[in-house]
Parts: sequence; C-alpha cells; structure tokens
Amino acid sequence: MSVGIDIGSKTIKIVELEKEGNAFRLRGSGIVGYQGVSPEHAKDAKELLALGNVIRKLHQDARISTKEVIIALPETQVFTRTIKFPLLTDQEIVSAVKWEAEQYIPIPINEAIVQHSIIERRENTTPPEVAVLLIAAPRNIIELYVKTVQLAGLNAVAVETELTALSRSLAPEGQTILLVDFGARSTDIAVVKSGQLSFTRTIPTAGEAFTRAVAQTLGVELSQAEEYKRAYGLSGSQLEGKIRGALDPVFRMVVDEMKKAIHFYQTEEKGEAPESVILAGGTAGMPEAISLLTKYIGMEVVIANPFAKVAVDPEVARALMPYAPLYSIAVGLAMREA
Ligand SMILES: Nc1ncnc2c1ncn2[C@@H]1O[C@H](COP(=O)(O)OP(=O)(O)OP(=O)(O)O)[C@@H](O)[C@H]1O
Ligand SMILES: [Mg+2]
Repeated sequence: MSVGIDIGSKTIKIVELEKEGNAFRLRGSGIVGYQGVSPEHAKDAKELLALGNVIRKLHQDARISTKEVIIALPETQVFTRTIKFPLLTDQEIVSAVKWEAEQYIPIPINEAIVQHSIIERRENTTPPEVAVLLIAAPRNIIELYVKTVQLAGLNAVAVETELTALSRSLAPEGQTILLVDFGARSTDIAVVKSGQLSFTRTIPTAGEAFTRAVAQTLGVELSQAEEYKRAYGLSGSQLEGKIRGALDPVFRMVVDEMKKAIHFYQTEEKGEAPESVILAGGTAGMPEAISLLTKYIGMEVVIANPFAKVAVDPEVARALMPYAPLYSIAVGLAMREA
C-alpha cells in the first residue's frame, strides 16, 4: 500500500494505491476544500495544527489503511534548473552537483536539499554534453510540510515536488509533452520527455485569478464570481459574453507562459516541440478551457486522467471521474517506488 497526499492551497487530496504486479489498484481516495492557509503561509502553530486536523479527518474519512504517506512540495517553494556538464560519468556527476550546486541555486547550500536526475546524454552535440535536472528545496520548508502531516498523526516517508509526481502519473513513454497543473493559486508548467522532467516553470496565476477577474469585471461578490466561472467558464454565449470577456485576458496570459516554456525548451535544450498538452488540476475543468487552449496553442490538448493506468471499481470510478484531474499529483505520489 502506498499513500500520496497533495496539500494544495485550496484543496487537499489523498490517494491510496495497491501494487498488483506492475499495475495499481485504487484502495482509497478523498478530497476536501479548506479555508486555512498552506504550511508555508501559516503564521503560527495554531494555523498549522488546523491544517493538520483537516488532513487527519480526510485520512480517516477516506479510510486509508496506513499512516505512512508521501507528500509533495509546491513548485513555488522549489528551484528547478537544467544544467549542463561535459560527458561525465554518473559518479562524476554526483560530485559535480555536490560541488557546483551552490552557484545554480538561490539558497545557501547548507539550508537546502538538492537532488538531481540525468535528462539526457548528448554525444552528438559539440562539445558533447550531459543535461542534468537540479531540484533544490529549502530544508525548513520540507520540515514544515513533514511537521504538518505529523500534526495529522501521519508519518511522511518521502517528499518530492509536485511536477515530479505529476509526470509520474501522467506522462506517456516515448513522447515529449507539455504538462500543466492548472490549480487555484499557481499554474505549474513542465516539458516532459519520455517521463523525464526537462524544464519547469511556475506562475502565480490560476483559478483564484480567474474568479477575481470575474468579480471585478462584473462587480459581483467572489462567491458569485466563482459560480459564474464554474458554470460558464470560457464559453462566450452566456451573459452577453461578459464572463468570457473577463476570463479571456487572464487565460491568454497563462497560455503565453506555456508558449514561452515551449520556446525556451526548443532554443535552450534544442528539444523537439511537445506533441500535446496534458491539463491537470481543478481549473482544467473550466468550461471550454480545453477547446480554447487548443485554439490558442495550436496543438492537441487533453484533460488529465491519472487513473488511466489504475484499476478502479466501476462504481467508485463513476463518482471519481469528474474530479480525476485534481487527483493527478496524489496518484503520482502514491505510484512512487518506496
Ligand atoms: N468546474 C470548474 N470550473 C472552473 N474552475 C474550477 C472548476 N472546478 C474547480 N475549479 C477551480 O479549481 C481550483 C482548485 O483546483 P486544485 O484543487 O487543483 O487547486 P489547489 O491544488 O488547491 O491549488 P494550487 O495547486 O494552486 O495550490 C479552484 O480555483 C477552483 O475554483
Ligand atoms: Mg495543486
């Protein structure tokens, strides 16, 4: 049994998977919205405890069988960078990362946890090079997330980044894709080549920004704006196109960032263009988001289904399907090898 918990800024998701040979079966899942703040924004122990209690209840309600859980750090709290070395051996790369990481990450090295993975060995470039992905997180942020789940009575056995988990649950083998987590507070974007993260970027524009735009443009309360957003989204036909008019500029901004990510990947990494976009997170469900993104970005866009490779009881599946994109990170965490 393996359990993933995704602590988002608006909702928390939990998933328990059982490994059956090379496949997985869903053993439990749950999602809960909460009003508080995420761990890094907690002002005091009381706020952190409140969050811990929300997680404790979610874990109980979902009848998760183990207290050992895997958690993710939000992309806003981690630094991800591609660096290049001459064609060193794996062992040499370990030392090179150890000695050189400091110059690439903006936090003091003794206050950070640094991990790396090899993206690609390029023997045919001049000079030949190896591209390495560096992921660094502040130690105190990791401790804060570990503490939060401890307050829920749980034990964090592993911590990774959201996009690492997301690429595990969603990225197809043998293809280069753009992976987008369209959440509440942030939109996280990654280029993933054959399951390997190659480039990441995060912007502070997502669901909440859309709701604010509707509230401001139409002069309505946030709760009303949220309802309009969910009901009509980017379809132009309602309220004389006013909702779409309010959402469209924000949407274009996010699409521009996706285009920039692709451009950066193609120029800096000489990578081939992604074949498609996979859209995860709650905001992926905004009406007409898929069709408009397809139009703006000019390639195939599909909505994330992290359960595609997971056996799910038919009845559970029916209830779960509308929320599938929201579970992408939690599923990816639970799929992690122990
Ligand atoms: N049908 C829908 N149409 C439009 N927006 C939706 C819909 N359903 C959910 N959302 C939005 O999705 C967001 C919540 O998604 P999600 O749970 O992925 O966010 P989160 O993980 O808590 O946030 P973040 O990852 O940014 O910290 C909210 O902003 C909500 O308004
Ligand atoms: Mg999220």
